[in-house]
Amino acid sequence: MPLLPKPHVSLYASDKAQYIQALFSQIAPRYDGINRVLSLGRDLAWRRRAAAQCALQPGRQVLDVATGTGDLAFSLACHVAPHGQVIGLDLNAEMLAIARKKAGKRDPYRVCRFIQGDALQLPFPDHAFHAVTIGFALRNVTDISTCLAQMYRVLKPDGRMVCLELARPEKRVWRQLHAVYLRLIIPGIGRLGHGVAAPYQYLANSLTDFPGRKQLVQLMLGVGFKQVHYVNLLGGVATIHVGIA
Ligand SMILES: C[S@@+](CC[C@H](N)C(=O)[O-])C[C@H]1O[C@@H](n2cnc3c(N)ncnc32)[C@H](O)[C@@H]1O
Repeated sequence: MPLLPKPHVSLYASDKAQYIQALFSQIAPRYDGINRVLSLGRDLAWRRRAAAQCALQPGRQVLDVATGTGDLAFSLACHVAPHGQVIGLDLNAEMLAIARKKAGKRDPYRVCRFIQGDALQLPFPDHAFHAVTIGFALRNVTDISTCLAQMYRVLKPDGRMVCLELARPEKRVWRQLHAVYLRLIIPGIGRLGHGVAAPYQYLANSLTDFPGRKQLVQLMLGVGFKQVHYVNLLGGVATIHVGIA
């Protein structure tokens, strides 16, 4: 298995995009399993909670940006099936192949369609979707504001944008424990589950550069979202931000 280069402290946007794609191609086959372990079994419940925040009804059209192996798209499918549609978009062919395989022809997942595309240039007309989501991925795009602006653009008026993302706890003791978890435990589990620590080291480091929850509120307001708010999950190790177009 080719080793990824160690992530630089600050990568140029094009280098970061290439690095991220090599990283997800490499970890795709074990992404789901390692997610379960790293989130202490909570990630699927968090995605269900994020999907519920979209306030969807059957028949609605939803876009899941940077869908990866599709788990958030599958949670959304449960709300819009049987006549709605969920489009899961991602740049990475290996992650999408796993999403398609998991969906198969099963209900309600058959309402999901997985396509390759860029979150920074969404290939959809304005106002196409009732809701747009992004799960554990805003931290991986090279330009957060452009991604948010694209999500805003493709939402119908009053449609909902929901962002599920890892975060750092607000309380001091939790924050210190969390720092140990990020620095030691995540790369360790990555090494055990995958044989290499570098991809998981990058994922842990990427949290350090990511805007805090209040900064993300400001970025969302900046591209036009209204009524922006967030909820903390598990003491603040993850957050769900919601905004209305
Ligand atoms: C940590 S995974 C999250 C996957 C999924 N949303 C989930 O809930 O598990 C991040 C995903 O973002 C995708 N990604 C990163 N930059 C992207 C971009 N510019 N456009 C589309 N997908 C992108 C990666 O290919 C990867 O599948």
